[in-house]
Amino acid sequence: MKIAVSGKGGVGKSTIASVLALMSAEQGKNVLALDADPDANLASCLGIPLDERRGIMSVSAQVALIEKRTGAKVGKYGQVFKLNPEVSDVAENLAYKHRAVSLLVLGAVKSGGGGCACPENTFIRSLVNDLVLFKNDSLIMDMEAGIEHLGRATAQGVDAMLVAVEPGQRSIDCAMSVERMSKEIGIKKILFIANKITGAADCVFVNEALRDKEILAFLPFTEGLRDADRDGLCPYDRLNAETRDLYASILARLES
Ligand SMILES: Nc1ncnc2c1ncn2[C@@H]1O[C@H](COP(=O)(O)OP(=O)(O)OP(=O)(O)O)[C@@H](O)[C@H]1O
Ligand SMILES: [Mg+2]
Repeated sequence: MKIAVSGKGGVGKSTIASVLALMSAEQGKNVLALDADPDANLASCLGIPLDERRGIMSVSAQVALIEKRTGAKVGKYGQVFKLNPEVSDVAENLAYKHRAVSLLVLGAVKSGGGGCACPENTFIRSLVNDLVLFKNDSLIMDMEAGIEHLGRATAQGVDAMLVAVEPGQRSIDCAMSVERMSKEIGIKKILFIANKITGAADCVFVNEALRDKEILAFLPFTEGLRDADRDGLCPYDRLNAETRDLYASILARLES
Protein backbone atom coordinates (compact mmCIF):
# COMPACT_ATOMS: atom_id res chain seq x y z
CA MET A 1 0.00 0.00 0.00
CA LYS A 2 1.36 3.41 -0.98
CA ILE A 3 -0.21 6.38 0.75
CA ALA A 4 0.47 10.11 0.94
CA VAL A 5 -0.67 12.38 3.77
CA SER A 6 -1.58 15.90 2.72
CA GLY A 7 -3.62 18.90 3.80
CA LYS A 8 -3.33 22.47 4.98
CA GLY A 9 -0.33 23.68 6.96
CA GLY A 10 -0.22 22.53 10.58
CA VAL A 11 -3.17 20.12 10.45
CA GLY A 12 -1.01 17.22 11.63
CA LYS A 13 0.32 15.60 8.42
CA SER A 14 3.78 14.79 9.80
CA THR A 15 2.34 13.57 13.09
CA ILE A 16 -0.10 11.28 11.27
CA ALA A 17 2.52 10.03 8.76
CA SER A 18 5.04 9.27 11.51
CA VAL A 19 2.51 7.45 13.69
CA LEU A 20 1.24 5.35 10.76
CA ALA A 21 4.84 4.52 9.79
CA LEU A 22 5.96 3.50 13.28
CA MET A 23 2.77 1.56 14.02
CA SER A 24 2.97 -0.33 10.69
CA ALA A 25 6.61 -1.17 11.39
CA GLU A 26 5.66 -2.39 14.86
CA GLN A 27 3.07 -4.63 13.22
CA GLY A 28 5.87 -6.21 11.19
CA LYS A 29 5.58 -4.33 7.90
CA ASN A 30 8.56 -3.13 5.89
CA VAL A 31 7.90 0.58 5.92
CA LEU A 32 9.44 3.16 3.64
CA ALA A 33 8.66 6.67 4.88
CA LEU A 34 9.21 9.48 2.37
CA ASP A 35 9.53 13.05 3.58
CA ALA A 36 8.30 15.03 0.59
CA ASP A 37 8.16 18.35 2.44
CA PRO A 38 11.03 20.73 1.56
CA ASP A 39 10.70 21.97 5.15
CA ALA A 40 11.43 18.41 6.24
CA ASN A 41 10.56 17.28 9.75
CA LEU A 42 9.42 13.69 9.42
CA ALA A 43 12.78 12.56 10.81
CA SER A 44 12.16 14.47 14.00
CA CYS A 45 8.59 13.11 14.23
CA LEU A 46 10.01 9.59 13.91
CA GLY A 47 12.18 10.37 16.91
CA ILE A 48 15.57 10.45 15.14
CA PRO A 49 17.95 12.43 17.38
CA LEU A 50 19.13 15.83 16.11
CA ASP A 51 22.78 14.87 15.64
CA GLU A 52 21.72 11.92 13.45
CA ARG A 53 19.19 14.02 11.54
CA ARG A 54 21.92 16.41 10.51
CA GLY A 55 23.71 13.56 8.75
CA ILE A 56 20.76 12.56 6.54
CA MET A 57 21.32 13.60 2.93
CA SER A 58 18.25 14.27 0.83
CA VAL A 59 17.55 12.46 -2.44
CA SER A 60 17.44 15.74 -4.41
CA ALA A 61 20.96 16.51 -3.13
CA GLN A 62 22.27 13.31 -4.74
CA VAL A 63 23.09 15.24 -7.87
CA ALA A 64 25.59 12.76 -9.32
CA LEU A 65 23.13 9.89 -8.93
CA ILE A 66 20.22 11.83 -10.46
CA GLU A 67 22.38 12.95 -13.37
CA LYS A 68 23.63 9.42 -14.01
CA ARG A 69 20.14 7.89 -13.91
CA THR A 70 18.30 10.57 -15.90
CA GLY A 71 21.13 11.39 -18.29
CA ALA A 72 20.61 15.12 -17.70
CA LYS A 73 22.37 17.91 -15.83
CA VAL A 74 20.64 19.08 -12.66
CA GLY A 75 19.82 22.80 -12.75
CA LYS A 76 19.88 23.03 -16.56
CA TYR A 77 16.65 23.20 -18.45
CA GLY A 78 15.47 22.39 -21.94
CA GLN A 79 17.33 19.07 -21.93
CA VAL A 80 16.18 15.68 -23.12
CA PHE A 81 16.27 13.13 -20.32
CA LYS A 82 14.96 9.71 -19.36
CA LEU A 83 11.42 9.84 -18.05
CA ASN A 84 11.80 6.42 -16.42
CA PRO A 85 15.14 6.51 -14.62
CA GLU A 86 16.22 3.34 -12.80
CA VAL A 87 15.22 3.79 -9.14
CA SER A 88 14.70 0.28 -7.76
CA ASP A 89 17.85 0.31 -5.61
CA VAL A 90 17.51 3.86 -4.29
CA ALA A 91 15.42 3.18 -1.19
CA GLU A 92 17.62 0.29 -0.18
CA ASN A 93 20.86 2.19 -0.59
CA LEU A 94 19.94 5.67 0.61
CA ALA A 95 17.27 5.18 3.28
CA TYR A 96 18.06 5.93 6.89
CA LYS A 97 16.87 3.09 9.16
CA HIS A 98 15.25 3.97 12.46
CA ARG A 99 13.00 1.79 14.64
CA ALA A 100 12.36 -0.54 11.69
CA VAL A 101 11.27 2.35 9.45
CA SER A 102 13.35 3.26 6.38
CA LEU A 103 13.30 7.02 5.85
CA LEU A 104 14.09 8.86 2.64
CA VAL A 105 14.16 12.65 2.76
CA LEU A 106 13.35 13.85 -0.74
CA GLY A 107 14.50 17.43 -0.25
CA ALA A 108 13.75 20.71 -1.95
CA VAL A 109 13.95 20.97 -5.71
CA LYS A 110 15.09 24.37 -6.93
CA SER A 111 12.70 24.68 -9.81
CA GLY A 112 14.04 27.83 -11.57
CA GLY A 113 11.76 27.32 -14.55
CA GLY A 114 12.01 23.55 -14.86
CA GLY A 115 8.86 22.92 -12.84
CA CYS A 116 7.66 19.36 -12.71
CA ALA A 117 9.68 18.39 -15.78
CA CYS A 118 13.14 18.80 -14.24
CA PRO A 119 15.41 15.77 -13.71
CA GLU A 120 15.10 15.89 -9.88
CA ASN A 121 11.31 15.83 -9.90
CA THR A 122 11.21 13.14 -12.57
CA PHE A 123 13.56 11.06 -10.45
CA ILE A 124 11.45 11.54 -7.31
CA ARG A 125 8.19 10.84 -9.14
CA SER A 126 9.67 7.62 -10.50
CA LEU A 127 10.73 6.65 -7.02
CA VAL A 128 7.11 6.66 -5.85
CA ASN A 129 5.62 5.34 -9.10
CA ASP A 130 8.01 2.56 -9.94
CA LEU A 131 8.82 1.18 -6.52
CA VAL A 132 7.38 -2.31 -6.47
CA LEU A 133 5.78 -3.14 -3.15
CA PHE A 134 5.19 -6.67 -1.94
CA LYS A 135 2.39 -7.75 0.37
CA ASN A 136 4.27 -6.89 3.51
CA ASP A 137 5.61 -3.52 2.32
CA SER A 138 4.16 -0.08 2.74
CA LEU A 139 5.14 3.37 1.62
CA ILE A 140 4.01 6.46 3.52
CA MET A 141 4.65 9.96 2.18
CA ASP A 142 4.52 13.12 4.26
CA MET A 143 3.60 15.91 1.84
CA GLU A 144 4.26 19.62 1.83
CA ALA A 145 1.38 21.78 3.13
CA GLY A 146 -1.17 22.96 0.61
CA ILE A 147 -1.60 22.07 -3.04
CA GLU A 148 1.59 23.11 -4.82
CA HIS A 149 3.07 19.60 -4.71
CA LEU A 150 0.06 18.32 -6.66
CA GLY A 151 1.19 20.46 -9.60
CA ARG A 152 4.51 18.61 -9.51
CA ALA A 153 2.62 15.31 -9.09
CA THR A 154 5.28 13.81 -6.84
CA ALA A 155 2.64 11.60 -5.20
CA GLN A 156 1.05 10.48 -8.47
CA GLY A 157 1.95 6.84 -7.85
CA VAL A 158 0.19 6.43 -4.51
CA ASP A 159 -2.83 4.15 -4.03
CA ALA A 160 -4.53 6.57 -1.66
CA MET A 161 -4.29 10.20 -0.69
CA LEU A 162 -5.03 10.73 3.00
CA VAL A 163 -6.21 14.27 3.51
CA ALA A 164 -5.94 15.58 7.04
CA VAL A 165 -8.32 18.28 8.22
CA GLU A 166 -8.85 20.09 11.48
CA PRO A 167 -12.18 21.56 12.55
CA GLY A 168 -11.90 24.84 10.65
CA GLN A 169 -13.20 26.06 7.31
CA ARG A 170 -9.77 26.93 5.89
CA SER A 171 -8.48 23.41 6.31
CA ILE A 172 -11.67 22.08 4.70
CA ASP A 173 -11.25 24.45 1.75
CA CYS A 174 -7.68 23.25 1.28
CA ALA A 175 -8.81 19.61 1.58
CA MET A 176 -11.33 20.14 -1.23
CA SER A 177 -8.60 21.50 -3.50
CA VAL A 178 -6.32 18.59 -2.57
CA GLU A 179 -9.11 16.16 -3.40
CA ARG A 180 -9.85 17.75 -6.77
CA MET A 181 -6.20 17.99 -7.83
CA SER A 182 -5.41 14.47 -6.59
CA LYS A 183 -8.18 13.15 -8.83
CA GLU A 184 -6.80 15.21 -11.72
CA ILE A 185 -3.40 13.50 -11.46
CA GLY A 186 -5.10 10.10 -11.38
CA ILE A 187 -5.18 9.16 -7.69
CA LYS A 188 -8.26 6.97 -7.27
CA LYS A 189 -8.76 6.82 -3.52
CA ILE A 190 -9.09 10.01 -1.48
CA LEU A 191 -9.67 9.45 2.22
CA PHE A 192 -10.00 11.95 5.04
CA ILE A 193 -8.79 12.10 8.63
CA ALA A 194 -10.17 14.67 11.06
CA ASN A 195 -7.51 15.71 13.57
CA LYS A 196 -7.39 17.94 16.67
CA ILE A 197 -11.01 17.24 17.58
CA THR A 198 -12.00 18.76 20.91
CA GLY A 199 -15.68 17.81 21.19
CA ALA A 200 -18.98 16.90 19.60
CA ALA A 201 -19.35 20.26 17.85
CA ASP A 202 -16.07 19.64 15.99
CA CYS A 203 -17.32 16.24 14.82
CA VAL A 204 -20.60 17.75 13.63
CA PHE A 205 -18.72 20.49 11.74
CA VAL A 206 -16.36 18.06 9.98
CA ASN A 207 -19.11 15.54 9.21
CA GLU A 208 -21.21 18.30 7.67
CA ALA A 209 -18.28 19.80 5.72
CA LEU A 210 -17.17 16.40 4.41
CA ARG A 211 -20.53 14.77 3.84
CA ASP A 212 -20.35 12.04 1.19
CA LYS A 213 -16.60 11.68 1.83
CA GLU A 214 -14.90 8.75 3.53
CA ILE A 215 -13.62 9.88 6.93
CA LEU A 216 -11.28 7.27 8.42
CA ALA A 217 -11.13 8.67 11.94
CA PHE A 218 -11.78 11.59 14.23
CA LEU A 219 -8.55 11.96 16.18
CA PRO A 220 -8.79 13.92 19.41
CA PHE A 221 -6.68 16.93 20.27
CA THR A 222 -4.44 15.69 23.07
CA GLU A 223 -2.03 17.49 25.33
CA GLY A 224 0.39 14.60 24.93
CA LEU A 225 0.72 15.26 21.20
CA ARG A 226 0.86 19.02 21.60
CA ASP A 227 3.58 18.73 24.24
CA ALA A 228 5.54 16.16 22.23
CA ASP A 229 6.39 18.87 19.72
CA ARG A 230 7.36 21.34 22.44
CA ASP A 231 9.53 18.77 24.19
CA GLY A 232 11.10 17.30 21.03
CA LEU A 233 9.54 13.86 21.63
CA CYS A 234 8.31 11.32 19.12
CA PRO A 235 4.48 11.64 18.82
CA TYR A 236 4.09 7.86 18.54
CA ASP A 237 5.48 7.46 22.05
CA ARG A 238 2.98 10.02 23.40
CA LEU A 239 -0.27 8.53 22.11
CA ASN A 240 -2.96 7.81 24.66
CA ALA A 241 -4.82 4.50 24.48
CA GLU A 242 -7.84 5.97 22.67
CA THR A 243 -5.73 7.60 19.94
CA ARG A 244 -3.60 4.47 19.56
CA ASP A 245 -6.76 2.41 18.95
CA LEU A 246 -7.99 4.94 16.41
CA TYR A 247 -4.69 4.77 14.51
CA ALA A 248 -4.83 0.96 14.59
CA SER A 249 -8.30 1.14 13.04
CA ILE A 250 -7.01 3.54 10.34
CA LEU A 251 -4.30 1.03 9.42
CA ALA A 252 -6.81 -1.81 9.37
CA ARG A 253 -9.10 0.21 7.05
CA LEU A 254 -6.19 1.07 4.76
CA GLU A 255 -5.24 -2.56 4.46
CA SER A 256 -8.72 -3.88 3.80
N1 LIG B 1 -4.11 15.41 17.69
C1 LIG B 1 -3.31 16.38 18.08
N2 LIG B 1 -3.44 16.94 19.32
C2 LIG B 1 -2.64 17.96 19.71
N3 LIG B 1 -1.68 18.49 18.96
C3 LIG B 1 -1.49 17.97 17.72
C4 LIG B 1 -2.28 16.90 17.23
N4 LIG B 1 -1.86 16.59 15.97
C5 LIG B 1 -0.84 17.43 15.71
N5 LIG B 1 -0.61 18.27 16.75
C6 LIG B 1 0.37 19.36 16.84
O1 LIG B 1 0.11 20.29 15.80
C7 LIG B 1 1.31 20.83 15.31
C8 LIG B 1 1.41 20.57 13.82
O2 LIG B 1 1.53 19.18 13.61
P1 LIG B 1 2.36 18.61 12.39
O3 LIG B 1 3.73 19.19 12.33
O4 LIG B 1 2.21 17.15 12.41
O5 LIG B 1 1.49 19.24 11.21
P2 LIG B 1 1.83 19.35 9.66
O6 LIG B 1 0.52 19.33 8.97
O7 LIG B 1 2.81 18.30 9.29
O8 LIG B 1 2.51 20.77 9.58
P3 LIG B 1 3.28 21.42 8.32
O9 LIG B 1 2.20 21.90 7.41
O10 LIG B 1 4.07 22.51 8.94
O11 LIG B 1 4.11 20.33 7.72
C9 LIG B 1 2.45 20.17 16.10
O12 LIG B 1 2.77 21.01 17.16
C10 LIG B 1 1.79 18.88 16.61
O13 LIG B 1 2.39 18.43 17.80
MG1 LIG C 1 4.65 18.47 8.28
